[in-house]
Order: sequence, then C-alpha cells, then structure tokens
Amino acid sequence: MKSEAQLAEIRRAYARQTLSLVGVSSPELENAFATVKREHYLGPGPWKIFRWTGYEETPNDDPTPLYDNVLVGIIPERGLNNGQPSGHAMWLAAAAPRPGEHVVHIGAGVGYYTAILAEPVGSPGRVTAIEHELQLAARAKANLAHLPNVTVLQGDGATIPLDPADVIYVNAGATRPVDAWLDALKEGGRLVIPLTTNAAFGAGPPRGAQGAMFRIERRGDEFHVSIVSGAAFIPGEGLRDPVSEAALAAGFARGGVESVTRLYRTDDVPEEQAWVRAPGWSLAYR
Ligand SMILES: C[S@@+](CC[C@H](N)C(=O)[O-])C[C@H]1O[C@@H](n2cnc3c(N)ncnc32)[C@H](O)[C@@H]1O
Repeated sequence: MKSEAQLAEIRRAYARQTLSLVGVSSPELENAFATVKREHYLGPGPWKIFRWTGYEETPNDDPTPLYDNVLVGIIPERGLNNGQPSGHAMWLAAAAPRPGEHVVHIGAGVGYYTAILAEPVGSPGRVTAIEHELQLAARAKANLAHLPNVTVLQGDGATIPLDPADVIYVNAGATRPVDAWLDALKEGGRLVIPLTTNAAFGAGPPRGAQGAMFRIERRGDEFHVSIVSGAAFIPGEGLRDPVSEAALAAGFARGGVESVTRLYRTDDVPEEQAWVRAPGWSLAYR
C-alpha cells in the first residue's frame, strides 16, 4: 500500500499531465486536480476502469490506477462513469470558475468533479450539485458532506429552481440549452453544456462529430457561443427532445459547428445564418 505522501506525489503528477494533455494552463485547476482524492469519491477499491473492450478491474485497492486519464465505472452495469479527467480539465477551464462565484453542477454523479469545482470558488463561493439518480445523489451527498460550500440536491437539473449562477456545468447529454439554465445565468455567466445526438453514445467508439461541448456566455441580452471540443455523454434524463435532436444531427452531418458564435432564443434566424434551428432556439454563425 502506498503512503499518503507517495499518493500526494502521484496526484500532483496526474494533475500536471491531465492539464498538459489538453493544453490547459491554470494553477487553480491544477491544484484542484492535485488535491482532490478521486478514490474518496469512487468509494473503496478495487475499481472498474472503462476500456473500449469492456471494464477492467484494478488488481487491488491501491488507488494509483485512478490517477490516469481514465473513466471509472460508477454504475458500470448502466454505463455510468466518472468522466475522463482531460476532458473535464478542458471543459472546466472553459467554465473558468472564480473565487466567490456560484457554480451549478448538473449530473454530479458521486461528486468528484463537484469537489474540483469547489476548490477555485473557495469559501466565499459555493457549488450546487444536482444529481438525478437516487443512489448516486446519496453517495455524492455523503462524499461531499465535509465541504461546507457544497450543497447536493437530488432531482432533475432542468426543473429544480436555481439561484442565479456564474457557471452552470452540465455533465449529461442535452439536445438543446434548457431555458431555465439560460434564465439563471448572471451577467457574464457561463453555461458549459454537451449538446449531443442520439448517435453520440452508442456501442463502440464514437463515430465522427455527433456531439460537442459548448460554452455559452451571457452578455446582456446576448448569448455568445464557442465550441470547446467534441463530446460524447450519456443522454440526460428529461434533457432530450426529438425535434431538437433531429436538428442537431442534421447540423453535425452538415458540418460548420466550429463557426457557431451565437445562441438565439428564437427560431426565426435566417437559414444562411443558422447552424441549427429548432422550435424556440437556434445556434448561429453571427
Ligand atoms: C456521465 S455521468 C457523469 C457523472 C459525473 N459528472 C462524473 O463524471 O463522475 C452523467 C450523470 O448525469 C446524471 N443525470 C442525467 N440526467 C440528469 C438530470 N436531468 N439532472 C441531473 N442529473 C442528471 C446521471 O444520473 C449521471 O450520474
């Protein structure tokens, strides 16, 4: 068994490697990845590491294999995983949580990335974590009980009333930006959200661009958009509507997502300006 000092060194190297894999330079995030103990959130080992060929169990309860760029099963029989560290490093850097801010984390799972979000906002700030699955919400609540700036709620993140937020960080696949999240964003607030097609989470490796992580920033009445990366996420409960899904699938098939700069909360955007138009919302090039 490794000593706590050895594990601290392993976490520090993991944090450096995780951020450098995706070209992120952020001392605050690096420190969060270096200090939050992944095994605390995943529970006692051995753990199930996700591989494209199936889950591979770690040989014992030495947490060293968790400090790698791997997904780890949280309810493996349902394909629910603690997400890939490098992906989260990139998306968290895009969300850019700052000291004193209120962050809402939707799809918190067992709370590992909630704890990482709680580091940069600190004690003047706070994190509201929402998890739909009963068993996971209970685990997250217990795992995060020692953090006074974190509240865990069980339920559907699309319908639970939200306090105004500086960051809304979504970890389950949606087919459109939820109106309640856009309404909750403060001035300068950032919604980081995976918009995914049904093909983005099938059996086997991802097939081309079928989903992407978007950063949507509120500036007055405007919503400025950039794409952070491609993304495959488990479909969110209650976050999918078939008409928006079909519009997204058509948009990804056509290409051009990297040129999207605006979200409009209407579908009357001219066709040549729109990447995706669906009832009540559009992603547009200008
Ligand atoms: C891919 S898992 C990621 C969990 C966590 N972020 C992690 O990496 O460990 C997605 C999580 O979103 C949750 N979820 C799905 N739909 C949700 C919703 N509408 N509101 C809140 N949580 C939701 C699922 O139960 C699941 O735990």
